[in-house]
Amino acid sequence: MSVASGVASADPAPIGLGIAGLGMAGAVMVQAAAAHGGYVLRAAADPHPAPRTAFARDFNARAYEDIGALCADPAVEVVYIATPHQFHAPHAILAAEHGKHVILEKPMALTLADCDAIIAAVERAKVHLIVGHTHAFDPAVRLMHAFIAAGGLGRLGMIHSFNYTNFLYRPRRPEELDTARGGGILFNQVPHQVDIVRLLAGGLVRSVRAQTTGLDPARPTEGSCAALLQFDDGVAASLVYSGYDYFDSDEWHFGISERGARKTIDHGAARRALMRTADEARARTETFAYGSSSPGLPPHQPHFGITIATCERGELRASADGLIQYDIRGATTCEIDRGTGIPGRREVLDDMRAALRSGVPPIHDGPWGKATLEVALAIQQSAREGRDVDLKHQVAVKPIPEDKRQKYMVEARIAQ
Ligand SMILES: NC(=O)c1ccc[n+]([C@@H]2O[C@H](COP(=O)([O-])OP(=O)(O)OC[C@H]3O[C@@H](n4cnc5c(N)ncnc54)[C@H](O)[C@@H]3O)[C@@H](O)[C@H]2O)c1
Repeated sequence: MSVASGVASADPAPIGLGIAGLGMAGAVMVQAAAAHGGYVLRAAADPHPAPRTAFARDFNARAYEDIGALCADPAVEVVYIATPHQFHAPHAILAAEHGKHVILEKPMALTLADCDAIIAAVERAKVHLIVGHTHAFDPAVRLMHAFIAAGGLGRLGMIHSFNYTNFLYRPRRPEELDTARGGGILFNQVPHQVDIVRLLAGGLVRSVRAQTTGLDPARPTEGSCAALLQFDDGVAASLVYSGYDYFDSDEWHFGISERGARKTIDHGAARRALMRTADEARARTETFAYGSSSPGLPPHQPHFGITIATCERGELRASADGLIQYDIRGATTCEIDRGTGIPGRREVLDDMRAALRSGVPPIHDGPWGKATLEVALAIQQSAREGRDVDLKHQVAVKPIPEDKRQKYMVEARIAQ
C-alpha cells in the first residue's frame, strides 16, 4: 500500500518567497522551495556575505544584509524566518508589519508574551503565520495522525517519543549553549517532540511533569530531558531526549538519518570532531551556511527519533519510508510516496500555499505555536520546581480538511 504526498492548490501562480537567515535551516528551506514548484525564491537576508553571495548567484535574486530591506521587498509575499531564536519575535513582527505572510521556525519565541505579540501583529496585518518546520509536518507523522483520527485502531492510549542524538556537540553559537538566550534542547529539539505528540493526541495537554539534566559543565545548558505529558482526554505521552552523542537512536530507526539519508552510525564522532575544532562559532557558520555544502535530496522519509502510538487495537510507528501498523495480524507497512522536494519542509510550504491560495487555515498557526512553546516552558518549570505544571494556553488540532480526510480514510481501511 502506498500514499501520495503533496497538496494541489487552486491558483497556480508561484508565491514570492524571502529567506531570513541563510544558515543551516535557511539552506534546507532554500532547497525545499527551489524543488517545490509553488514558490519562487525572490530574496534573502543575512549579515554574513558568503551565503548571500551564493544565494544571489544561484537564484538570480536579491540578497540583503538587513532583514528590514527583505521585508520591504515588494516581490516577497512570504518571509521564512530562520534566524537565531532570540530574534524570532522581533523578526516575525517586522515581517507582519510589512504585510508579509510569515513562516517562523521553532521555537515560536522564547516567552509566551512574545508569542502574544507575534499573534497580535499577524492579526493586525491580516497575514498568515505558520510556525514550522517541526517534525510534526513529516508525512509519516501526518499519516499517523490521520490513522488515529480515522479511529480504525480504536482509542489512542499513549505515545512514546524518544530521540538520542549528537545535538549538544555539533559546533554551536554561544547563545545556543545558554538557556536564557534560547539555547539547549528545550527550545531547539524538544519542540519537535511536543509538536508531534500534540498533533497525534489532539493538541490539548493538561499537565506536565519533567526532569532535565545538564551533564557537561563545558556546555552549560539542558542536554537531556524526560517528560510525561497528560492530555485532557487521558492520553499520556512520554518524551525522552538526549543530545550527548553517546547512543544514537537512528541505530533503531533503520540506519536512516533525521532528514532521511542513509547514515553511518559513529558514536562519539561529534565530540571527537569538536575537540579538533579551534573556532567553534566560525565552524558553525562555515559548515552549515547556504552554499557551504550541497547535501542533495534524501532518499527516505524524515523522522525525529522513534515515535510509537499505542491504540486499543494496534500500534503505529514511523518507518524509513512510511508507517508500520502492528496489530493482531502482524505488521503491515504503508509506504508513503517520497514525492518531489524535501518531505517535511514541502508540507510547510504546501500549508502556506493552501492558506494563501485556497483559504485552508493551517494547523500550525500562532496559537498552536504558542501552545507548543508553553509545553516546552512547562517542562523547564517542572524540572526546576520538581512538581506537576498545569497548562492554560492549549489549542485543539483543527480537523483534517475533507479532501485529505477522504484520501486518508481510504488508506486507513487496513486498520478496520
Ligand atoms: N526545523 C528544523 O528541523 C530546524 C533545523 C535547524 C534549525 N532550525 C531552526 O532554524 C533557526 C536557525 O537555526 P540554524 O541552525 O539555521 O542557525 P544558523 O546559525 O546556522 O543560521 C542562522 C542564520 O541567521 C543569520 N542571522 C543572524 N542574525 C540575522 C539577522 N538579524 N537577519 C538575518 N539573518 C540573521 C546568521 O548569520 C545565520 O546565517 C532556529 O530557529 C532553529 O531552531 C530548525
